[in-house]
Amino acid sequence: MASTKNWFETIAEAQRRAKKRLPRSVYLALVAGTEKGVTISDNVEAFSELGFRPRIADLPAQRNQATTVMGQDISFPVIISPTGVQAVYPEGEVAVARAAAGAGTAMGLSSFASRSVEDVAAVNDKTFFQMYWVGTRDQLLARAERAKKAGAKGLIMTLDWSFDSARDWDAPMIPEKVDLKAALHFAPEVLRKPRWLFDFARTGKLPDLTTPNLAIGDEPAPTFFGAYGQWMSTPPVTWDDVAWLREQWDGPFAVKGIMHPDDARRAVDAGCTAISVSNHGGNNLDGTPASIRALPAVVDAVGDQIEVLQDGGIRRGSDVVKALALGAKAVLIGRAYLWGMAAAGQHGVTNTLEVLRQGIDSTLLGLGKASIHELSREDLVIPENFALTTK
Ligand SMILES: Cc1cc2nc3c(=O)[nH]c(=O)nc-3n(C[C@H](O)[C@H](O)[C@H](O)COP(=O)(O)O)c2cc1C
Repeated sequence: MASTKNWFETIAEAQRRAKKRLPRSVYLALVAGTEKGVTISDNVEAFSELGFRPRIADLPAQRNQATTVMGQDISFPVIISPTGVQAVYPEGEVAVARAAAGAGTAMGLSSFASRSVEDVAAVNDKTFFQMYWVGTRDQLLARAERAKKAGAKGLIMTLDWSFDSARDWDAPMIPEKVDLKAALHFAPEVLRKPRWLFDFARTGKLPDLTTPNLAIGDEPAPTFFGAYGQWMSTPPVTWDDVAWLREQWDGPFAVKGIMHPDDARRAVDAGCTAISVSNHGGNNLDGTPASIRALPAVVDAVGDQIEVLQDGGIRRGSDVVKALALGAKAVLIGRAYLWGMAAAGQHGVTNTLEVLRQGIDSTLLGLGKASIHELSREDLVIPENFALTTK
């Protein structure tokens, strides 16, 4: 469907609208990335190196995209990757979760989210709660148990966010809380984007920069920076820690951030249900190659023992098909839906998911496949040096 005022036909157009609508600092917080941005660019560019081998007749009249991830049936192979800055839109994660539920897919909720796991699981019964290794084992367990009680169906342990880093395009200043001082600091750029401000004004609330899912018991929700401080003072996670938490959690358990086949094997040893081959969308160690380049070796190492997912750089339905053809069961998306939400709230997230669904459908048609389950590496033209070959 062509772009109209209420519809964007590609994710690139969603990004353009997000940039136009958001204050500069908020937009830059969504772009994220680290250092020179080598990884964030390769995540996207690597998909262009993969080609297709299309067919032209005897094409299937209907194409099936349904699959399952971590025990949940999903209508198409795209799920919401957890991200921590959704206070850019008043309803934040609740809007994203609703849009995902409407599209028949699962929601990954960040422990750095602005809305509670109770609110989010109430609108999407396929919610996976994401945790970083922040605090003591007791605190981690308390948060996991709270998520379970709220109805979370799986746990995602993200292991690849390990230090703070700078950006050549300038890290945006994020305020500790949105008070008068912060409002005055941001006034010049915010006043240039009145529609964004208007969305918040209508709700009578200011952007919430607290992290309710990190509170233990009746504690008040820590601020984003309070939580960040706690994370920075927690000793680095070990595979023993992961195996311990996995054992405490009675249900599907994923590790996100795998780039090395050895780490994939460790996740299998720890008893995980799934892994996501990921470099945190280029937000961690700059110079890490695109996650799609790491996927084939990981699939070859553990693909028959664990569900292998991929995230990083997905901007089109054809990217999803490429990841599936290389062996991923499904993909997670980050910026694509954040831009959709920034462009048009919940409707924008629905729009993003629909753009991807339609893109997957046309790619399957072009390849002559009746189902995503028929895809294989034979459908792709893969340049010789494309994939990482670490065994
Ligand atoms: C603004 C932003 C915030 C993020 N916050 C989190 C988070 O809280 N937890 C997490 O596991 N991953 C987080 N990620 C990483 C995403 O879950 C995902 O791995 C990445 O965005 C995928 O790449 P893509 O944006 O190119 O789709 C974040 C990414 C972005 C862009």
